[in-house]
Amino acid sequence: MSGEVFPVPASVAEAAYVDDAAYRAMYQRSVEDPDGFWGEHGKRLDWIKPYTKVKDTRYAPDVSIKWFEDGTLNVSANCIDRHLATRGDKTAIIFEGDDPNDSRHITYRELHAEVCRFANVLKAHGVKKGDRVTIYLPMIPEAAYAMLACTRVGAIHSIVFAGFSPDSLAGRIEDCASKIVLTADEGLRGGRKVALKANVDAALAKIGGVETVVVVKRTGGAIAMTEGRDVWYHEEAAKVPADCPPEEMNAEDPLFILYTSGSTGKPKGVLHTTGGYLVYASMTHQYVFDYHDGDVYWCTADVGWVTGHSYIVYGPLANGATTLMFEGVPTWPDAGRFWQVVDKHKVNIFYTAPTAIRSLMGAGNDHVTKTSRASLRILGSVGEPINPEAWLWYHNVVGQQRCPIVDTWWQTETGGILITPLPGATALKPGSATRPFFGVQPAVVDAEGKFLEGATEGNLVITDSWPGQMRTIYGDHERFEQTYFSTYKGLYFTGDGCRRDEDGYYWITGRVDDVINVSGHRMGTAEVESALVAHPKVSEAAVVGYPHDIKGQGIYCYVTLMAGEEPTEALKKELKDWVRREIGPIATPDLIQFAPGLPKTRSGKIMRRILRKIAENEFGSLGDTSTLADPAVVTDLIDNRQNLK
Ligand code: PRX
Repeated sequence: MSGEVFPVPASVAEAAYVDDAAYRAMYQRSVEDPDGFWGEHGKRLDWIKPYTKVKDTRYAPDVSIKWFEDGTLNVSANCIDRHLATRGDKTAIIFEGDDPNDSRHITYRELHAEVCRFANVLKAHGVKKGDRVTIYLPMIPEAAYAMLACTRVGAIHSIVFAGFSPDSLAGRIEDCASKIVLTADEGLRGGRKVALKANVDAALAKIGGVETVVVVKRTGGAIAMTEGRDVWYHEEAAKVPADCPPEEMNAEDPLFILYTSGSTGKPKGVLHTTGGYLVYASMTHQYVFDYHDGDVYWCTADVGWVTGHSYIVYGPLANGATTLMFEGVPTWPDAGRFWQVVDKHKVNIFYTAPTAIRSLMGAGNDHVTKTSRASLRILGSVGEPINPEAWLWYHNVVGQQRCPIVDTWWQTETGGILITPLPGATALKPGSATRPFFGVQPAVVDAEGKFLEGATEGNLVITDSWPGQMRTIYGDHERFEQTYFSTYKGLYFTGDGCRRDEDGYYWITGRVDDVINVSGHRMGTAEVESALVAHPKVSEAAVVGYPHDIKGQGIYCYVTLMAGEEPTEALKKELKDWVRREIGPIATPDLIQFAPGLPKTRSGKIMRRILRKIAENEFGSLGDTSTLADPAVVTDLIDNRQNLK
């Protein structure tokens, strides 16, 4: 662990919204008087009917979370219309295509027209307030138009990452009963085409209920159109006006559903609502990135993940910012692409994931140093713990030691950033997400839920609500309570472990449940296991994470075959391809170990702790194996592990 501390650079402190003293004072007020604090900061939005109530939240018994509950507003009006008078000609979105020669600026006025048109297309196809709309689009401006169009008419969007398989897409469409799917003919990434419409067709062959598929033309590739169900977006858009009044929504009306993995069962539909979410996304975007009017801001995430929702679309646009949308990948046409784009568009604030930093670090400094990057002022990191080595490279090589790095810890469930440095206020320690944002009250508890004080290590909980918190799991409030509020009664359990040091800085150590984080993508080991056992040759599977140089964690699968099946290399490949097809490329197993038996307790429970240690090559610390039904299984697994790379 690097012990170095990086003080706030004087130039950054001078220009920043808050310095250390201001942070402490604002933080203090935010937790002592949340009603006063958020009542004031909620006014950063335009409300149709102003709220008179601010916070009404309860973690036990019967979890209920409401913010600004009697206020009304419209998200798209806040992200677009209210900027038109002063920023109509300002660039809202810079689109940087996969092809380096393909880029485009979209002004706030153009965004208004595009979103209104999209909203009218939705209306023409019967979409009404409260309806669910599934979006399966690549990183093109239409993805942002579609999101904002949903908010304009009061529909609830559910974005499914365009890398998910037809099966995963089908499950998500079915869970929230969408009658309409928005997609593109094909996506374009790293010079390769992604068959989006074909995936939608395959998904819809499995489930009923979808009446309309709207297809955006991206590549012009050949696709099948089903008569009576599929329509081209450009044809529909030509039939409707570019003006659509925004629907008046209550602060607690649902805004979007986003599916995310947990330790058990199928992915959960995390539900965020309108007012609190937007207040929180916009406020964190301003303070965490020290965003000032005129800055060019780039978050490299995909809109299919929560980072794309809050920090490509909603936070930046609510603040009237210029936000860059990148269709491509960091390593194409070469590993200098990020920095070329930074120079091309004079990006000031750059927000990416540790996995990207590690892979670019491996490609060598030349790709970076031959660019200028003089425009950069603030760097950000999100998605997984950043190892100090990658942090230092990001700081020294990319940021030329000028730019503070904000290591932002948060989750799909939290809606926005919860633990993070503020550029003008926080001295940095590589690998630490540092201190809580305003209104956020983290605490560390032991396995029994006892609060641990001072410098300590344990499980990370949050003791009270903040406006961006998820409100429920779509259609399953009981699962919501069970998943997040039952481990420690009255506390929000994050599923993460953490350390708090003597300065009160938080160091996230990773998940403590059966969720793994692969290249910043969150995955339930149970999902990969159920994909594996669905293969006819597999009788049993156990999946764990193991340290991976680039991905952070890799996917390690122990597989027991059906009697009589041969454990061959060809079968390993077949199983990897199988999981890839079942869930999507991000779930492709890294290592498969055939295991004639798995370590189980006498009651038949698989002892994952042992499997994790073996996958990590830590044979010396297996702990107590005496409760195993057959301890010899472990020796077998260790012998085989040593033969795997
Ligand atoms: O384990 C934490 C890790 O990512 C999890 C949340 O994943 P997801 O809901 O997909 O959201 C990712 C983007 C917000 C967390 O429980 N995580 C996220 N950011 C960090 C992190 N771990 C350490 N440091 C971070 N900055």
